[in-house]
Parts: sequence; structure tokens; C-alpha cells
Amino acid sequence: MKSIYLYFQLLITVFILNACDSETKKSVSPTEVFADSVFDNHSYSNINKIRTKHLHIDLDVNFENKTVYGIARHEMINNGTDTAIFDIKALDIQKITLGKKGQEKETDFIIGQWDKDSILGQPLMVKIDPKTTLINIYYKTTEKTEAIDWLSPELTSGKKHPFMYTQGEAILTRSWIPLQDSPANRITYSASVTVPEGLLPVMSAENPIKTDKKGIYEFKMEQPIPSYLIAIAVGNLTYKKLGENCGIYSEPELIGQCSSEFIDLPKMINAAENLYGKYQWGQYDLLMLPYSFPFGGMENPRLTFVNPTVLAGDRSLVSLIAHELAHSWSGNLVTNRSWDDFWLNEGFTVYFENRIMESLYGKEISDILAQVELQELHNEIQYISESDHPEDTKLKLKLSGRNPDDGMTSIAYTKGAFFLKTLEKEIGREKFDKFLRSYFKTYAFKTVNTELFVDYLKVNLLEPNDSDFNAEEWIYKEGLPKNCYTIHSTRIDNVQQLAKRFENGENIFEEVKWLKINGRKKRKKQIIRLDRSKYITQEWQFFIRELPEKIDVKLLKRLDANLNFKDWGNSEIIFEWYLLGIKSGYVELRPSIEKFLLKIGRRKYIAPIYQELSKSPENLKWAREVFEKGKNNYHSISRNTVQEMLYKKK
Ligand code: BES
Ligand code: ZN
Repeated sequence: MKSIYLYFQLLITVFILNACDSETKKSVSPTEVFADSVFDNHSYSNINKIRTKHLHIDLDVNFENKTVYGIARHEMINNGTDTAIFDIKALDIQKITLGKKGQEKETDFIIGQWDKDSILGQPLMVKIDPKTTLINIYYKTTEKTEAIDWLSPELTSGKKHPFMYTQGEAILTRSWIPLQDSPANRITYSASVTVPEGLLPVMSAENPIKTDKKGIYEFKMEQPIPSYLIAIAVGNLTYKKLGENCGIYSEPELIGQCSSEFIDLPKMINAAENLYGKYQWGQYDLLMLPYSFPFGGMENPRLTFVNPTVLAGDRSLVSLIAHELAHSWSGNLVTNRSWDDFWLNEGFTVYFENRIMESLYGKEISDILAQVELQELHNEIQYISESDHPEDTKLKLKLSGRNPDDGMTSIAYTKGAFFLKTLEKEIGREKFDKFLRSYFKTYAFKTVNTELFVDYLKVNLLEPNDSDFNAEEWIYKEGLPKNCYTIHSTRIDNVQQLAKRFENGENIFEEVKWLKINGRKKRKKQIIRLDRSKYITQEWQFFIRELPEKIDVKLLKRLDANLNFKDWGNSEIIFEWYLLGIKSGYVELRPSIEKFLLKIGRRKYIAPIYQELSKSPENLKWAREVFEKGKNNYHSISRNTVQEMLYKKK
């Protein structure tokens, strides 16, 4: 008993010492892996002393118990430590052994306390000896496992088979696999997965395309990736090839719609390679998930996860695919070293996404897309500047003690992208592209933090071009610098005017034109009706956002009568429409909003709607009722966000 107590004391000391390491402190180790000592505020793991290089996971996916039974076999590089610390969150750890399969010896371990606001989870401290390299953790997931969404058949398109999937980014992988959950470490992985007969498992790895009779599948990811990119989904899935090295997995009911919506995928891959170098992951597939998926897309390597709200029917939302594809370079190949450097993942990706869109559909279109994002950025900067954390408008964040998800704002995405756009204009596209190509090449399969990027930028772009570009202001200061690149889009100007005219009570739905007959004086009156197809989705999005927040409901009804936004199957339009409707008291939208909230779990849509509803007592009451009906259909990421919004103590 006493020895265990002493050991516990020792572990705590090890943990505290580890936590005091400073970010820049160099390790004294001669070993190359430990050369750059890193510190991650969002991981308990002691990766400066011992690091996983390869992880093999044995997984048994049990739909009846909604439990994954697993063994995480870590092959590690040990720099002579006698304690290995892993991250876990709400996992049931059954036993831990050391050594090769078949010759394993059990060892002691201690699970630390929950962190105070249960963001990080718990440290799992394992007793090893300084030569230990193989650690096997036997575990099972629990009801509280946040990464996994277990769906009953009714929540799928086919309604016959259950479905499950995981979401790892930012720090949820630790809730379904015990590991060192920091983006600062890269690992290869393999998996042996057992699933019920007839269902197909797919992972961010080399994937099967057909079901196996016994339900046993092998996976491998041979390129080193950060832990947040390990993902699995299991369901009634079928595969359709879309090009040489790409295709789509989805339930059979959606495969036709998916393959027509994403027909341009091979062209996108081609455009991306022409811009920033060869695609490094072999295969690029998409996986269409059920509606509860909390994001629009997630860039799991070799297998981007996609939300069905992207299926607009007219390919108008495919920039999301360009975005997730771009992550195969920015994010997956060159990875943010900590969540404070999140803009290195997302800002570069949004910039890259826009370049892919420009290559495929032309500058007029890519400018409209960027303009819509910029409009949102202005609103968000205003909002954050007035919040408790005005410093969140800096690109380099300080998220210590907070949930890394707090960094998921349009600062990282759009301010990051406009930083690069502005830089491109300053230096010239040709030189800038060359710089980005060399950046991706230099740091391929490595992790980068903001400071390292700034050094690289100075040495390789700013100094050789004698530029005094204000990179530091962009990165380390609040707000949007004055030199931010401005886009001039005539088409956006036009919808802006259309919105103004409408707001002023003009009839925008009918345009009267006088046609000359035979070029003579006599003229004929022609009435042209405004049709939705006159503008693209993003122009309409801009139009709706340009209308005043508290617009006369009569006007909104007139818009619905003429253009029927309310029943437009396009998720982006309908989302903007609902928000404006709620702000303006258009209560007749309620049934339609309710249907939307019960079907869709994408946080980007449902959180702002619930947030807007929570601003008035009657709406809040109604929102709570809807949420209580729908909450079990949401992934924990969306559920937790909304729960907090609707029930926070003031
Ligand atoms: N990697 C993100 C999703 C993410 C970020 C998940 C942080 C968890 C934590 C993904 O690439 C993304 O940005 N998705 C966006 C779409 C994109 C077009 C802006 C989304 O889901 O809306
Ligand atoms: Zn992204």
C-alpha cells in the first residue's frame, strides 16, 4: 500500500514538472525525436520523455451496448523515463501491460483527477521502466465518450441499419482511444476492427470497399499523422469511384446524389496539385455521414467526412470539398503544433480552398465566395471585440485553460486567409506560390507553430523581396490591419443594391423593360420576373445578410411569396433566412425551423439559431422544448454547445 502511495507521489511530481516545461526549453536528449521539446496546454502526455511512434488498435464495435472494446498497443520511443503519461477522457481502463503480444506483463497505473472544468479529461500515468517501448492499454468506451455518435436506424437515410462515427478534432480522440493526444506528435497507425455482419467500417486509412463475411477488417495509415486525425465510421456503406484515385462512400440511398454533386472532385485534386505540389496520401475519398455530423466537413486523411447539408442539388456548396481537400496539405501534411496555432491549419486552408475554386470556376466566383466570408469576419470581429476575450481576434491564440474549440472562429479561418491574400498581393502571386510550395515541402509530415512560420516567412519571402510587410501586426495584434486586401465584385455590389431597393419598399420582383420594335419609336412593354436562378447561392446569402436585422415581417413574407426561401433545400440560404426571421419576429417560420433543428446537427447552423432564439423569453421557452426533443439526435459536440447556450446561468 505504502509503495503504491509513494509511487503515486512520484507520478504527481513527474506530472507537475512536466507541466512546468516551458515551450521553448530545449531538451538535453541526444535523440533526434526529442530534439524539439514541445509543450501543449491541452495534453497531459509527457511527449518530451516518451513518444508513441506507431499505434495498433484492436477494436470491437458493439452497437448493442453502444461500446467500443479496444486494446491500444503503443510502440514508443523512450528517452529513459519510468512513467508514461497518456490522455484519457471518460474511458474505462481495464488493464495495462508491457511488452510484446503474447509476452505481456501487467503494470500499475494511476488515473489522475478530472480537470476542473472537464475539458482535458484525465492523465493516465503508467509505471514503466526506462527501457520500456511497448505499452498495451485494454479499455472500453463509456456512455460519456464524447467523440462517438451512435445512431439508431431512424437517424440514417436508409432507416434500417445503425451507424456510428467518431470526431477527433480538437481533443476528443482521447475519449475513444487512450493516447498522447497532442498535435505536436505524429504517429502511424494500424487497426483490426470487428463489426456486426453486413456493416462496413472505414477509417482515416487504407480502406476496404466491400463487406467481409466475418466482419473483421484490417486498416493501416503508413504516413505519420497527429492523433486528432484518427477516425472511424461504421454503417451500411457503399462505394462509388469518381476518378483515378478518388471516390465516395455513402449509404446506398444517397450514392447517386453524392456522385453527381461531387463530380468535379478529380478536377479539384488536379487543381490542388498544380498549385502546391503532389497529393501525398495516395487515395482521396469522401464519406457522406448522417445529418447529425456536427461539422460540414472534417479532413480525416484519405477520407474526408462530409455532412449531407452540402448536398444542395446544384453543386453550389462544393467549396467545402475544396476546403477539406486543401487540408491534405495545410493541416494534415503540415500540422499546427498546438491549438494556439490553429490558424496555421485553417487560415492556410481557406486561402488554398479559394485558389482551388478560382482554378475551377474562375475569379468572379471565387471573389464572391471570399467576399461573403469577409462580411462574416467583420461581424465576428465586432462580436469578439465586445466579448470577454477581445484578444481572440489575434491569429496566435492563448487558449490555456480554455476549450480549444473556442479558437474555431472566423479569425483563424478568414482573417488567416486574408492575411495570406494580402501577402500574395504585396509580393506577387508567382513568388508567393513558390514560397507556399517550399513551405509545404520543408515541413511535410512535421508540425509547425506560429513563431516558426514567422521565421520561415521572414527568411524565405520578406527579406529576399525587401518587404516590410506587417506580418507581426496581422498575427499578434487584435483586429483587422488597415492594409487588408479588399475585393471588388460588381456582382456583390449589385445584390447589395438589390437589398437596399427592397428594403426601401421597391418592387424588385418585376423588372419592366421597353423593347424597341424594329428599331423604331414604337416600343413594347416586357415584364421580367426575378428568379432565384438569377443569382448564385452566395449572392443570395449576401443579399439576406444585407437586410436590416429588424425588418418588417411583411417584407419577409413578400420575399417568401416571390422567392420561397423558406422551402429552398439549400442549407446555407435557409440558415440565413431563419436567423433573419427570428430576429425580425417572423413566427410563421417556426414549424419549418423546428423541422430543421430536429433533422440537422451541424453546429455551425443549429448553434446560431438556438443562440438567437435564446434572446427572448418566449423564444427561449420554445427553443428549449425543441432542444429537448432533438438533443439525443445530436453529436455531443453540438449538444454540449447548445445545452450551454440554453441553460447557462446568468
Ligand atoms: N477541421 C475543420 C473542422 C474542425 C475544426 C473540427 C476544429 C473541430 C475543431 C474543418 O476543416 C472545417 O473547417 N469545416 C468547416 C467547413 C469549412 C468549409 C469552413 C465546417 O465544418 O463548417
Ligand atoms: Zn478546415
